[in-house]
Amino acid sequence: MDLKAIRYEVIATPAGYKIGVAKIARPEAMNALNKQVLNDLKVLVGHLSSHRELRALIISGEGEKAFVAGADIKEMEGMHLAQAREMAFAGQALFQKIEDLPFPVIAVMNGFALGGGLELALACDFILASTKAKWGLPEVTLGLIPGYGGTQRLCRVVGRALAKRVAMSGEMFTAQQGFDWGLIAEVHEPDTLFPAAMKLAITLASRAPLAVGWVKEAVHHGGDRTLAEGMKIEADLFARTFETSDHLEGIKAFIEKRAPAFQGK
Ligand code: CAA
Repeated sequence: MDLKAIRYEVIATPAGYKIGVAKIARPEAMNALNKQVLNDLKVLVGHLSSHRELRALIISGEGEKAFVAGADIKEMEGMHLAQAREMAFAGQALFQKIEDLPFPVIAVMNGFALGGGLELALACDFILASTKAKWGLPEVTLGLIPGYGGTQRLCRVVGRALAKRVAMSGEMFTAQQGFDWGLIAEVHEPDTLFPAAMKLAITLASRAPLAVGWVKEAVHHGGDRTLAEGMKIEADLFARTFETSDHLEGIKAFIEKRAPAFQGK
C-alpha cells in the first residue's frame, strides 16, 4: 500500500494475532483530513476489507496535540453546493466502510478531535481518550454543519439533546464529559493511553473473530430497528455461530479448562 499521509503498521500480539495501527500523519496541520489523508484512508480501508488479516485496528493521530482537527478547512474555501454535496457523500461513504469493517476498530483520541475528526472517531467501535483530549463539532463556528455523519451518529450515541448541545454550540468538551455522556469508553493519562488501547485490542483479538464481528453487526443493524426486528437479527446471527468451527473450539476449551485457540472459521 502506498500511503503518504497515514503511518500504518501491523503489530503481532504474543499469541500471534495481528493488530493494525494507523496514525494520521499531518501533525503540522493538526492531522486535518485533506484529500491525501482521505484517499489514504480509502486505500487502507479497501485493503483491510478484502484481506481478512487483522483482529483489530487502532486509529490515532500523529503528534501530541491532535487526533484529527476536522476536514481541511483550507481545501473547502471557494467550494460550491455540488462540490460540497459530493464531499459529504464521499466522506460519509468512507466512514461507513470503517464502521462496517468486520473487526473491532478503536479510536485513540490523543488530542483535538473536532468536526470530521470526531466524525471519524464516531465511526469506530470504541473511543479511548487522553485526559488532554478536546472534542466537539465546531462547524457552526465556520458557518457550516457537520458533513461526515456527525449530526446522525452523535445523536444515536448520546441522544438528541446532548447532540444538539454539542453541534449547535460548536463548543469543545473534555474527555471526562465524553465519558460521562457515554461517547468515550475510557479516559487515560497521555502516557498510558496507547498501552490501554493495545490492551483492549489484545483482549478483543483473543475472542472468536466471527462472533466479535457478528456482535458488531447485530448492534449496528438491530440497534435502530424495532426490538422484534433486532431480536430476529440477533437470533439469526446466534444460529450462524453454530456453523463455525470456532464455537466447537470455544466449548471444547471450556470443558477442557484451557484457553481457546480461535481460527476465525
Ligand atoms: N483544516 C486545515 N488546517 C488546520 C485545521 C483544519 N481543520 N486545524 C488546524 N489546522 C492548521 C492551522 O491552520 C495551523 O496551520 P498554520 O501553522 O499553517 O497556520 C496548524 O494547523 C496549527 O493550528 P493552530 O495554530 O490553529 O493550533 P492551535 O493549537 O492554536 O489550535 C485547534 C488548535 C483548536 C485545533 C485549531 O487549529 C482549530 O480550531 N482548528 C479547526 C477546527 C475545526 O473547525 N474543525 C472543523 C472543520 S470543518 C469539518 O470538519 C466539516 C465536516 O464535518 C466534514
